[in-house]
Amino acid sequence: MNQNWNAEKYTSDFSFVHNYGNDVLELIDTAGVKDVLDLGCGNGALTNTLAEKGFSVVGMDASEEMLEIARNNYPGISFIRSDAVDFALEKPVDVVFSNAVFHWIDKADQPRMLECVYRALKSGGQFVFEMGGIGNNILIHSALADIFREYGYTYKMPFYFPSVGEYAGMLEAVGFQVRFAVLFDRPTKLKGENGLSDWINMFVKNPFLEVDKGDKDAIIETAVKRLSSDLYKDNTWYADYVRLRMRAVKK
Ligand code: BEZ
Repeated sequence: MNQNWNAEKYTSDFSFVHNYGNDVLELIDTAGVKDVLDLGCGNGALTNTLAEKGFSVVGMDASEEMLEIARNNYPGISFIRSDAVDFALEKPVDVVFSNAVFHWIDKADQPRMLECVYRALKSGGQFVFEMGGIGNNILIHSALADIFREYGYTYKMPFYFPSVGEYAGMLEAVGFQVRFAVLFDRPTKLKGENGLSDWINMFVKNPFLEVDKGDKDAIIETAVKRLSSDLYKDNTWYADYVRLRMRAVKK
């Protein structure tokens, strides 16, 4: 997962990410659950909610910037730095939870990540997560791909958004049983008049690494103009999110 975060702006302007994550927590079957790993915990907001529910929780993230915010905000919680595709716990847990993380991991690395999760769980343990699913932000990425081409660049899609079937297959291949899966549209309100350009600047970094600064601004401005008829409604920007939510069990 190669992304440098502006962790403070992420926390202040994109709080919908963890706010929506509260619904994902409801998928945990809480009977008998003690220990939970929050994988890709970011600023720790959901790790804290898990702790408030009475679980013994550890937050794990690859970003030192995010972990600094998490540790400052929630000094009573243990946060550790590790990469989701290469981690091991000293003791297995009852639940591995994750919100809005796995789409950052390349498809080729997903099996390695799922094996780490499988090993981190007790027998009968649950894996509960949400990520971007097939079609996530398709309007935004298609517009960017078109405009990159017009400016002489190639847009390399930086995310992995699987279907239910594809991801269920990957889970089963490492030994999980899938107990719940849903894919649904969730148009998501963005903050402020510059909501869409702020979103692109925050989340779509890697495709712009090869782009001249002047072209970058022009590409984003053009995308904002082209997308306004679909994504700007009642003076508010929306991103065309599609969510994949699953609950799988280690057997
Ligand atoms: C998501 O949560 O689906 C997402 C967020 C930022 C960039 C890409 C996907």
